[in-house]
Amino acid sequence: MTNQPDLEERSDYAAVGGGPAIAAVVDRFYVLVLADDRLRGFFDGVEMVRLKRHQVALVSQVMGGPVSYAGRDLREAHEGMSISPEDFVSVAEHLVTALTDAGVEPAIIDRVVATIAGTEADIVETRPAAG
Ligand code: HEM
Repeated sequence: MTNQPDLEERSDYAAVGGGPAIAAVVDRFYVLVLADDRLRGFFDGVEMVRLKRHQVALVSQVMGGPVSYAGRDLREAHEGMSISPEDFVSVAEHLVTALTDAGVEPAIIDRVVATIAGTEADIVETRPAAG
């Protein structure tokens, strides 16, 4: 029987190993996204610093990390990019791959996926009814 009560009191961010572990996930996520023909174009011309900020925000925020992201909200940040539901799924899948490769436990990955799913409405371009 596994008994690790303290895990329940820590954020997932802490449970997976904090900053260094997250950095490894972020690096892997970045490689996967930019190697994906569907996604690469979205990041054309995006400054590296902002790209890095995107990845760190995406990974840390959803894991309950100590991230005080003070940038634009998600809807504003992705407005006008015409991100489709399929694009969104691709990004989410790369994140899951990066987390899996880093040995993050399935229960934590499930929570990450649930949180990511909750941001979809802000990120995917929903076409207003044609008028
Ligand atoms: C899945 C959840 C996602 C989260 C939590 C997220 C988070 C963010 C955040 C916080 C920013 C603002 C960065 C800044 O202002 O510096 C941003 C920008 C951006 N995101 Fe996302 N994102 C997500 C999904 C996506 C998807 C699906 C795509 C494309 C397929 C995408 C492409 C971009 C691009 C191109 C930028 C602009 C970078 C810039 O010029 O500032 N994101 N994202």
